[in-house]
Amino acid sequence: MHHLIDITDLSMQELQEIIDLALDIIADRPAYTERCKNKTLATLFYEPSTRTRLSFEAAMLELGGNVLGFSDASTSSVTKGESLADTIMTINKFADIIAMRHPKDGAPLVASRVTDIPIINGGDGSHCHPTQTLADLLTIKREMRRLDNLVIGMCGDLKFGRTVHSLTKAMMRYDNIRFVMISPDELRMPEHVLEELREAGIPYTEVRDMESVMPELDILYMTRVQRERFFNEEDYLRLKDSYILTSDKLRGAKESLRILHPLPRVNEISVAVDDDPRACYFKQVQYGKYIRMALILKLLEIK
Ligand code: CP
Repeated sequence: MHHLIDITDLSMQELQEIIDLALDIIADRPAYTERCKNKTLATLFYEPSTRTRLSFEAAMLELGGNVLGFSDASTSSVTKGESLADTIMTINKFADIIAMRHPKDGAPLVASRVTDIPIINGGDGSHCHPTQTLADLLTIKREMRRLDNLVIGMCGDLKFGRTVHSLTKAMMRYDNIRFVMISPDELRMPEHVLEELREAGIPYTEVRDMESVMPELDILYMTRVQRERFFNEEDYLRLKDSYILTSDKLRGAKESLRILHPLPRVNEISVAVDDDPRACYFKQVQYGKYIRMALILKLLEIK
């Protein structure tokens, strides 16, 4: 592994090594404070972000490294017509590793072909979001003490939500996983992801109603409806409040359920749920920093 473009770029052994390293970082943070001294991370974000960009930057700073980059491509020479390839070949001269987000599916793959420094996909269009998945896996591992034998409910915008595409591809590799896809018809999980599940013999069901499946779930992964990917506002307004998780709706859920959300949240989880001990989405943000520290170390081959 030299770049991280898709979660399936990582073998199961590499996934485990990154999770183990993150657990070690959590257990012994002082041991890691200088590991990236004299190394520079560039964050090139062509799309808005709070968590992914800032957790990458926090991760590199906590490893003793430096950060540079842009959070808004309109302040860069992209506005003058510079190509992605030329931008990457330029940043290649200033940084040791790049984390990027782009509205176009496949842009990080294109970037990885013109540079010899590691490229990390921080989210490309509605395609995938592998570092969010790493954060999700670490959260599940810490909270459930396992990554196998789970019933995982994914709820909301399964069509445009890149996080659920990557998480499905990652979790289907563990033993005895069953998926419950909860969405309106218009926002179903894409057929190519479902086809992968069928080909691998992984059980899944598709339902519209959240309450009826709640008692079965070990993980409930909520997602927002991705307004920026809709072709018209009318459809967005019709679908945006398809699911709102409230304390009432959790009444039939297991005590051991864990509720995840990649964030940002819009309206799909009531703030009252934040006080429920099963709500993990802000812990998930914290785990996101540790797993990105581990990923940076792995990609830079720093022991
Ligand atoms: N989870 C996630 O990707 O959040 P941001 O869009 O804020 O980076």
